[in-house]
Amino acid sequence: MPVDPDNPVPETGEVANVRWQYMPAASLASASEAWLSPAERALLATFRSPLRQADWLRGRMAAKQLLMEMGVVRDARPSELEITTRNLRGQGIPPEVRLGGERLPVVLSLSHTAEGILVACGDDVRARVGVDLVRPTEIHPEALSVWLTPGERSQIDRTSAHDVAAVWAAKEAVYKAACVNESFAPMQVETVRKGETWNCRFFGRRIDRLSLITREMDGQIAAIAVVQPARTLVREVIQRDGGARDTATDNPSKPHTGTLRVVFAPS
Ligand SMILES: CC(C)(COP(=O)(O)OP(=O)(O)OC[C@H]1O[C@@H](n2cnc3c(N)ncnc32)[C@H](O)[C@@H]1OP(=O)(O)O)[C@@H](O)C(=O)NCCC(=O)NCCS
Repeated sequence: MPVDPDNPVPETGEVANVRWQYMPAASLASASEAWLSPAERALLATFRSPLRQADWLRGRMAAKQLLMEMGVVRDARPSELEITTRNLRGQGIPPEVRLGGERLPVVLSLSHTAEGILVACGDDVRARVGVDLVRPTEIHPEALSVWLTPGERSQIDRTSAHDVAAVWAAKEAVYKAACVNESFAPMQVETVRKGETWNCRFFGRRIDRLSLITREMDGQIAAIAVVQPARTLVREVIQRDGGARDTATDNPSKPHTGTLRVVFAPS
């Protein structure tokens, strides 16, 4: 992993590096089947909708670009990397990355909309990541807020598409970071903000070691969640945004990126 000069690795303790990146659809216009492994091409061919095919292809390209930029894989062509996000029953699972059939020790998450792809990758499996993008223009706030817990509803204006979208994005990001084999059940994932921190519950258990970031990107709400297992000792979490682009008036081809570093306490 290349060292970031602005954010050097602390002298003691192990560090997990999580990088997230939002890529506007226009910046992924060159996505093609050349980026895919044979199994990924076979799966792509099963999608009937051309829009779904294009979204999915952009997601694979954005994820593989980030994996390569992070130096997680060296000297590999994108088509040699395989990202699996379905189990044998065709259900969605947390992404698994393989090179030459061998599973890589990384964590990955992605979310697609017509506007772009949000992707995050981490180099330590003890810091699981989940991301989600929500377009407030697609939200019917009063209908969707029925699926928020009383704690979540008490914090927001339930008639505001922006507020409801932010909670929904946080819920899905936490779900993607925390799930093992649970299906997404909105009332089972609670994200309640308390000042600078969040109180989260996932299927009845509290998630203590959580970092949750929400941002506006391209008129959408993005959420990035990083969850560490309960027994992991964390010394500190360092967050940094880079290349921010919050409004449509900025350069639309510029990605919006950030990093999050989890410093584990020496065991
Ligand atoms: C998580 C979920 C709600 C997100 O759906 P969405 O908001 O419409 O779509 P997004 O674009 O934000 O996210 C889709 C991506 O999430 C990822 N994903 C799917 N299921 C996931 C899961 N269980 N955990 C983590 N990530 C998951 C995939 O990478 C998927 O993209 P891909 O199909 O291109 O690989 C939906 O995918 C879902 O319900 N998944 C669970 C399926 C399930 O019940 N699995 C069985 C238990 S593991």
